[in-house]
Amino acid sequence: MVFKEKEFTLGEKSILLRSARTDEAQLLVDYLKDVCGETRFLLCDADEIEYTAESEEDFIEDKNSSEDSMLMLAFVDGEYAGNCSFQPIGTRRRAKHRADIGIALYQKYTGFGLGRLMLEQLLGKIKELGYEQAELTVVGGNDRAYRLYESLGFKECGRIPNANKYQDGTYADDIHMVKELNR
Ligand SMILES: CC(C)(COP(=O)(O)OP(=O)(O)OC[C@H]1O[C@@H](n2cnc3c(N)ncnc32)[C@H](O)[C@@H]1OP(=O)(O)O)[C@@H](O)C(=O)NCCC(=O)NCCS
Repeated sequence: MVFKEKEFTLGEKSILLRSARTDEAQLLVDYLKDVCGETRFLLCDADEIEYTAESEEDFIEDKNSSEDSMLMLAFVDGEYAGNCSFQPIGTRRRAKHRADIGIALYQKYTGFGLGRLMLEQLLGKIKELGYEQAELTVVGGNDRAYRLYESLGFKECGRIPNANKYQDGTYADDIHMVKELNR
């Protein structure tokens, strides 16, 4: 689905939230490589990102035309800052009430409330669509993300110990969190 442009102010910064355009495909591929290189809290290392502008263009089109998923971009003072998204956790009927959420901002745009603002807007859409719960996975040690999710009503419901093994030989858990939307 398309998220219609919405403007906000956070402190001195002007924020624009909207869906992606297909001509932003390369921007999104570059961003994925950059954010994966900036933090160990995302899915993979930067060199494992294999998306191309063509595959990302299809992804944007799919998201914008979908009835049950959405991709939302954030711009801070006109600069692309990151995105968040949701989709059903599975295609089978019995999993269709569960929305899976993801979010990642460039480090320079973290820590001033943008993540909270984006997730509040995203959760609004998820609820509007009739999903009954929102779910996400956060890597152990990502305290900023964990705190934010907790304050938005997500509760920890399980951990996979040592789910992530890094090239330096260290490990981190995956923490599953759920927010019930109708209670
Ligand atoms: C995780 C992320 C989306 C959070 O967005 P954000 O804009 O930085 O977060 P916000 O500023 O809206 O809020 C963060 C909350 O954590 C708190 N916080 C900030 N730094 C913190 C820290 N180092 N430790 C614990 N809490 C911290 C803030 O006080 C704030 O709480 P509040 O709203 O009650 O005051 C963003 O930092 C990000 O994209 N990081 C990189 C990628 C990533 O980790 N993605 C999440 C994968 S699950």
